[in-house]
Amino acid sequence: MTQNLDAYWMPFTANRQFKQAPRLLTGADGMIFTDDRGRQILDGIAGLWCVNAGHNRPKIVEAIQRQAALLDFAPPFQMAHPMVFELANRLIELTPASLNKVFFTNSGSEAVDTALKMAIAYHRVRGDASRTRLIGRERGYHGVNFGGISVGGIVGNRKLFGPMLGGVDHLCHTHDPARNAFSVGQPLHGAEFANDLEKLIALHDASTIAAVIVEPVAGSTGVLIPPLGYLQRLREICDKHGILLIFDEVITGFGRTGQPFAAQTFGVTPDLMTAAKGLTNGCVPMGAVFATQAIHDTFMTGPEHLIEFPHGYTYSGHPLACAAALGTLDTYADEGLLTRATEMQGYFAEGLHSLKGLPHVIDIRNIGLIGGVELTPLPGEPGKRAFSLFLDCWEQGLLIRTTGDTVALSPPLIIERSHIDQMIDTLRKALVKAA
Ligand SMILES: Cc1ncc(COP(=O)(O)O)c(C=O)c1O
Repeated sequence: MTQNLDAYWMPFTANRQFKQAPRLLTGADGMIFTDDRGRQILDGIAGLWCVNAGHNRPKIVEAIQRQAALLDFAPPFQMAHPMVFELANRLIELTPASLNKVFFTNSGSEAVDTALKMAIAYHRVRGDASRTRLIGRERGYHGVNFGGISVGGIVGNRKLFGPMLGGVDHLCHTHDPARNAFSVGQPLHGAEFANDLEKLIALHDASTIAAVIVEPVAGSTGVLIPPLGYLQRLREICDKHGILLIFDEVITGFGRTGQPFAAQTFGVTPDLMTAAKGLTNGCVPMGAVFATQAIHDTFMTGPEHLIEFPHGYTYSGHPLACAAALGTLDTYADEGLLTRATEMQGYFAEGLHSLKGLPHVIDIRNIGLIGGVELTPLPGEPGKRAFSLFLDCWEQGLLIRTTGDTVALSPPLIIERSHIDQMIDTLRKALVKAA
């Protein structure tokens, strides 16, 4: 490989380490990536929690190719193209029934910032302008834009960027290894962590709070599964105090937990819901915010020639993204992928939890086709043990992801038992070696 790697400043990457020993992907099909050495790498993380239908799916590829030649771009402000309406209609067949309006963005981060703006503007438009405060959660990840890092709770993503948004506070996180380590599925203990919201309400007063945003399953902070009853309790408290509940379903959307959305898996419906990633199977960037009729209708007042919600992106509802999304939804439907995690989760959980007792493994967490294996950090070098494991798995032909000292797994939903066996065997060997 003689390519010059200097010019490209890589995102969320240890640039210097990478450029000394690059990991370059050159092709992908189904569950498998190919690298520049011609090796086959099993995709244990659906690219980056997005390629839910696996790679190189014909209906998606053909839809994008067709669309590029037909209509490459249509301005989204005061104009549209037919497919964006078709996509919105198809999507609201999958969401909880009350979330029947769709606003398009280009990424999860943009979806999050859009939802936060919608929440604040909603209260103002309906005459309750003091509700501007946003409540996130410790260890939350909501992308990297200023709204998202403000409500997010990962210090490494926040500390370099100044004061961020004002008027933000955070619920406590729900990670409780003393009571819940090695829970299979939802942990039994911790519904009461939601009562932290009552504390923040007592501190700030409900009349100042616009919305609470949480990931139903926190992914980027190391796979934290909501304790039984936690999301229900959060919903109750929000309802009691007129606070909007936002679910950030950027990773949980599109079948990851066994239903189209985690809202359905956990039986709790938010007022606003973000999505991205699996929306287009990762093939073309796209995000979305789903809103209730009531939120939407609140904006639909005033002179009809005026813009009701002054927000949007040049590429909102881009024709190529819409084509990719429709091809993706067809693929999901043809193959029953949005509920396939319910079939595979038992075998996946068994494999994952068989790693209990291996060196350094201090917790294992799972739901649907999401898995987390937490390791004890190397003394004084947090994250290094898991990163070394990532490098070893890469050499052994398995792509995993690590965050802190947790290994995260989120394979494509087309996964077969033999792939699960391969993932677990590779991880087992790497863990034994790391001892
Ligand atoms: C819960 C959640 N929200 C938002 C984002 C940001 O999405 P994007 O990277 O598409 O901006 C992510 C990305 O992993 C995520 O996990």
